[in-house]
Amino acid sequence: MSDLIRAVDVSKFFPLPEGKGEFTVLDGVDVRVDAGEVVALLGRSGSGKSTLLRIMAGLIPPSSGSVESSGRTVDGPNPDVAMVFQSFALLPWLTVIENVELGLEARGLGRTERTKRALKAIDTVGLDGFESAYPKELSGGMKQRVGFARAFVVEPKVLFMDEPFSALDVLTAENLRGEIDELWNAGTFPATSVLIVTHNIEEAVFLADRVVVLGTNPGHVRGTVTIDLPRPHDRNAARFRELTEYLYNVMTTPDMPVASAEATPARPKSGGETRSPFARPLPHVRVGTISGLLELIVDMGTGQEVAGLAERLALPVDDFLAILDAAVLLHFAEVSEGCVTITPAGRYFATATIQDSKTLFRQQVLEYVPIVATITRTLVSKENKTMKADFFLDLLDEYYPAAEAKAQFNTAIEWGRYAELFEYDAVEERLKLGEATAAA
Ligand SMILES: Nc1ncnc2c1ncn2[C@@H]1O[C@H](COP(=O)(O)OP(=O)(O)OP(=O)(O)O)[C@@H](O)[C@H]1O
Ligand SMILES: [Mg+2]
Repeated sequence: MSDLIRAVDVSKFFPLPEGKGEFTVLDGVDVRVDAGEVVALLGRSGSGKSTLLRIMAGLIPPSSGSVESSGRTVDGPNPDVAMVFQSFALLPWLTVIENVELGLEARGLGRTERTKRALKAIDTVGLDGFESAYPKELSGGMKQRVGFARAFVVEPKVLFMDEPFSALDVLTAENLRGEIDELWNAGTFPATSVLIVTHNIEEAVFLADRVVVLGTNPGHVRGTVTIDLPRPHDRNAARFRELTEYLYNVMTTPDMPVASAEATPARPKSGGETRSPFARPLPHVRVGTISGLLELIVDMGTGQEVAGLAERLALPVDDFLAILDAAVLLHFAEVSEGCVTITPAGRYFATATIQDSKTLFRQQVLEYVPIVATITRTLVSKENKTMKADFFLDLLDEYYPAAEAKAQFNTAIEWGRYAELFEYDAVEERLKLGEATAAA
């Protein structure tokens, strides 16, 4: 099979500040896009989707491994690729047609040819009549149409899209997604193949021929799911729902193997990092939010199917998955065979009085959340029962980029404070053992 573009064993490390080693974002990733197919990269926030796209587009180099495009090794901006960004990335001081022509500037075409091609691309995205408008005069949906026109105008071999619809309101996103799909199905699409990044499961199943699932910590390919539906993919077809539900299960069960011929074998994680209490990242979720979700599920009846639950609860999928993650981490919920069950502890946590909930939460974090347990043990062992925040931040810095280390610290504090295990004194920048714990 003729692959147009492929990433071969691509890894990416970013240096941590102050020479504290490296942060692995992608680990041995193999991804292929063949001529004539739409591939979706599906993964949760932080799985390295955007980084992989940038590497395949030749905008940043891989730390190891390589990218091949049309049989050549990519070494600088990849001429086979044009990109559509979530943020539109239009130049505000240029008109619609000038923004679109921008894509052609580097290709050495004459003025007339440029204008002709730009007008055609503008027509394709349904913006004729708006050639001389400025971005600020356009709605979000129209701005993204310009984003598409600017990519279409170069007639790239592969169109890359990084969450192209996620900055738009639901209805606008739905319309534009449908139009893009129609163009593809009609065979008039101005690119041979498409690689789209998304964390929206339905969007992936709707648009793609194959869905490559990325896992986190570090980003790696879990497997590929073939969307064996006739085009256009009918959302009401039983098979559509089956595939969507399957992908929901995959996304909510990080250890679940993804059935596929292309699955890369599980790699041993490097350097025993995972055994450190600081290496298991906490989902950034407030305790009240966890109990809120549990309460809702208790009300709806336990054994709810994960697929569609986010939608029924009117939560963005990513937020929903993070809350569910936290509930599972605390052993308040279990996900198996696509259904969420609330554990007896979870039910108690959601329904007991605040004080009883706190006591239970304290037990669960001490048992299942190593970072909070470690902070508590450290404070207990200190004569003055306090410790500089920097001590823990430095430990976290070994595993996460600075902003994420801070976020991990804040979540650990929030959970520890709720459990009344410790307090954070923001003025002195010190953690102090909670009075109840100190007394015990
Ligand atoms: N230049 C950089 N320096 C350090 N870390 C980086 C850099 N770029 C990305 N990262 C880190 O790499 C990880 C993956 O980032 P990336 O943006 O590729 O993820 P993503 O899957 O696209 O996430 P999202 O769904 O939130 O867009 C993140 O933890 C991010 O903080
Ligand atoms: Mg991204």
